Amino acid sequence: MSVHVQTSRMTTSKIRQMKQNGEKIAMITSYDFTLASLVDQAGVDMILVGDSASNIVCGNQYTLPITVDEMIFLTRGVVRAAQHALVVIDMPFGSYQVSEEEAVRNAIRMMKESGADAVKLEGSEEILPAVQHMIKAGVPVCAHLGLTPQSVNQFGGYGLRAKEEAEADKLLRDAQLLDKAGCFCMVLEKIPAQLAEKVTVAVSCPTIGIGAGPKCDGQVLVLHDMLGLNQGFKPKFLRHFAELADEVKSAVGDYVMAVRDQSFPNAEESY
Ligand code: KIV
Repeated sequence: MSVHVQTSRMTTSKIRQMKQNGEKIAMITSYDFTLASLVDQAGVDMILVGDSASNIVCGNQYTLPITVDEMIFLTRGVVRAAQHALVVIDMPFGSYQVSEEEAVRNAIRMMKESGADAVKLEGSEEILPAVQHMIKAGVPVCAHLGLTPQSVNQFGGYGLRAKEEAEADKLLRDAQLLDKAGCFCMVLEKIPAQLAEKVTVAVSCPTIGIGAGPKCDGQVLVLHDMLGLNQGFKPKFLRHFAELADEVKSAVGDYVMAVRDQSFPNAEESY
């Protein structure tokens, strides 16, 4: 299906305006120039260079090991590719939790050295002072509530968050605080759809859901998951929009056979 692609650069104020206009926001992850170019041409509004790169690019079990330098390196390629989409860089575990000063210093460094338009960080009330300082320093911030994979060792897994009333009430309060602090949008990950709807109504900034139902102002998916490249990962919230793992294996298998039977390269493919 062809999508109408806007030509002008996306900005944080345009993202906020989309909520006011009732337009849904499409965000997706990318970690390299080539795929980010395709994603940008396909018309996404925001590209997230997620710390899911730790899993997808580096093959780690968790997001925790990826570093600020690695995130900057990956994001540079994505920024070069993005002609339209707003690029958000994820702040990795340990880069914003130690002190507000260090958080702001890292946020500024990540923006300057990667060229990203905004940063994303996971957490609730405890990161509020850091978020306030970043916004004061001119760094646009995307918050991330609900399932926050950097806290996997605290949660003990990747289950649904905020099922119980007390946790749901806290999440709603945290969302309102982060909204008031000036976050330009917030990711809501793996929470009940009804709660995500309640948050979406309660905050002025757009909510971007992943496993948070249809009432968020936008959606985000990990590119390799939705393309069916990440074999064996198929949680309930994930839709495969393609089955590229099969395509890649079949194409590379054909290439291997062609090399072995010497049908590649042929005369037209030789100088
Ligand atoms: O790192 C990431 O890809 C994310 C998305 C799942 C929202 O945080």
